[in-house]
Amino acid sequence: MRMYTGRTTLSKFLIEQLQDVDDGGQLAGLLVDVAAAVKTIAALTGRGALGGHHGEAGSANVHGETQTRLDLLADEIMVEHCDWNGLVAGMVSEERDEPIWVQSEEQKGGYLLIFDPLDGSSNVAMNVSVGTIFSILRCPEDSRQDASDFLQVGSGQVAAGYAIYGPATMLVVTVGKGTHGFTLDREVGNFVLTHPDISIPEETSEFAINTSNERFWEPPVQRYVSECKAGSTGVRKRDFNMRWIASMVADVHRILMRGGVFMYPRDTKDPAKPGRLRLLYEANPIAFVIEQAGGAASTGRVRLMDVPPELLHQRIPVILGSRNEIERIERYHREYDSGDDKPYVNPLFKERSLFRAEA
Ligand code: F6P
Repeated sequence: MRMYTGRTTLSKFLIEQLQDVDDGGQLAGLLVDVAAAVKTIAALTGRGALGGHHGEAGSANVHGETQTRLDLLADEIMVEHCDWNGLVAGMVSEERDEPIWVQSEEQKGGYLLIFDPLDGSSNVAMNVSVGTIFSILRCPEDSRQDASDFLQVGSGQVAAGYAIYGPATMLVVTVGKGTHGFTLDREVGNFVLTHPDISIPEETSEFAINTSNERFWEPPVQRYVSECKAGSTGVRKRDFNMRWIASMVADVHRILMRGGVFMYPRDTKDPAKPGRLRLLYEANPIAFVIEQAGGAASTGRVRLMDVPPELLHQRIPVILGSRNEIERIERYHREYDSGDDKPYVNPLFKERSLFRAEA
């Protein structure tokens, strides 16, 4: 493993990581632009209520979700920082129905940038951590300048990452050579490498899911969560802990740091939606970061980064984190699909329990 000594800044790190990559300088330039946008968004969100930007914008995004004023500002900041210097050909944002195309030939670059400018933004007014998620693809050589350019499988991503605006602002990035974390030195304005080669522990006893949806989940997810909740009295023979921040970057960041499982699985709450999270700007970039840190990311049935996207704003079930747990959850889905799963018996209703189930 390369030892990073002293204060390795993001730019220095990217130059080194991308020196043997085709167009590596351009990709490094784009990532530096994304980092500059992130610093601006960090300054904006960091002002809290003093910034005067809290509250709803009075509009809705393509998913029908209410947009906050900060969603729209963060979206503009990302576009302004990344659209002008010959690095991108087009961009897709959660906050815009259609892609943005760079029209001028001199300013057009070879990459496509996809982003969720302010993930978890409904939490901002409560001063809970939020984030920015981004994914970078190569623009196809036979680009048609339409949505199909962006509909590439996640394994085609050349870089991805997220920023978390928490007590400290961090940028977590992968260019396919491990996952690395940088902390913003606010006084100086640099992102400094503080978490090189992040590695998610394979074993964990922590899971994150919105359990208020339990009755809508599929049986394999119900089985997994019931077993975790049964803890040392059940088949897992150890106690599990549960956390749910309702801000994907914050939940994922915790899992990267100390292991765990994050799930927003398929559910039947709204049968028209196959999941809550979006494939192109939430699931794929986070899956890339997680896999590069030694974890796994799945729909429960297939690897997330193998799913061929059909729509820009497509939703997808997301189950990711520590590898052994994800493999277990995938097995539960296989067993369920093939009819091989044994009915789960809640330990509370076993023979010697207080709550004996009646036959
Ligand atoms: O997609 C937006 C998002 O806010 C994620 O960041 C988060 O994980 C999820 O939705 C929260 O969903 P819920 O409101 O069901 O807890």
